[in-house]
Amino acid sequence: MSVLCSVAPWTSRSVRPHPFSACPASDGGIQGGRPPSHAVRSHSVIWANGHLIIEPLDRRRRTVLHAANITWGTLMPVISLASVKGGVGKTSALLALASDLAVSGSNVVVLDADPNGHASRIGARMAKRLDGVAFAALGGITEANILASIKKARTEADYVLVDLPGVSSKLTLLGLARSDLVIVPVQASEMDIHDALQTVENVKQAGEAADKTIRACFLLSRWPITIESRAAKETRKRLQSKAPDVAVLNTPLMDRTAFKEMTFNGAPPRLVEPGGNAAANVEAIRREVLALLGVEVEDAA
Ligand SMILES: Nc1ncnc2c1ncn2[C@@H]1O[C@H](COP(=O)(O)OP(=O)(O)OP(=O)(O)O)[C@@H](O)[C@H]1O
Ligand SMILES: [Mg+2]
Repeated sequence: MSVLCSVAPWTSRSVRPHPFSACPASDGGIQGGRPPSHAVRSHSVIWANGHLIIEPLDRRRRTVLHAANITWGTLMPVISLASVKGGVGKTSALLALASDLAVSGSNVVVLDADPNGHASRIGARMAKRLDGVAFAALGGITEANILASIKKARTEADYVLVDLPGVSSKLTLLGLARSDLVIVPVQASEMDIHDALQTVENVKQAGEAADKTIRACFLLSRWPITIESRAAKETRKRLQSKAPDVAVLNTPLMDRTAFKEMTFNGAPPRLVEPGGNAAANVEAIRREVLALLGVEVEDAA
């Protein structure tokens, strides 16, 4: 993939050594440290006429990134995965999205604020798999350090993804307050809808506390791959009618074995089967998420 960015020179940070490159993986610390090399070793990187051109060595595809609306050069976007309901697919969606952003050439840091530590544990496996890609996962995020951790990560990575615990708590509120976009996964069930709406209320509250508007969107999660069940249709409909100001992403994260397997081996679908359905699924979600952040990505022929 070739990435052409109409952005200021300081965005060349995406090809600097990864901020956490020198850090060893350790429990409760920074995990998934990269070798001290350029973030995107599989790409050639040149400046031409004020454009940063990142071209993959395989040159299979060409992607043009219009970065006019992004906050690059100042503070990088923070995307949180949140729901007051547990088990809705937050960590799975986060890891799928984070790895896809990284494989697409962005410098990605995952902050795991869930005491269970799934995102940082599996993220460490993922970092090993994503050799030559700027991806790191940091565990041990607590009430005491979440603000400082986000602040540090967002000055160094292109995207910071935060896995928030599946409960309302001060830690969750602090994470929400520092987010630019909150993705709320929702499975096809009345209970999920109820809790997703509560989560959106929490996002609004965090926005009021932080004195800013925090965008939120619903991600239909573990969605049936064959036909959309009645429960699934009803979930989509109710979300739209009860929270008309919150976007429902067009692309659900499908219920696929590939996303379960990813948790065992740390291999994102795009590594396992680049042309497969699961990889296409995550890519479509990444594009929608970037569009919400004001980043336009086009594939050229
Ligand atoms: N798209 C998917 N396809 C198949 N299985 C999935 C998918 N998303 C999540 N799962 C499975 O559902 C379960 C819950 O997912 P996950 O741990 O990602 O949810 P969570 O919201 O992060 O949970 P918690 O609140 O406990 O942190 C896991 O067993 C996971 O493998
Ligand atoms: Mg989780």
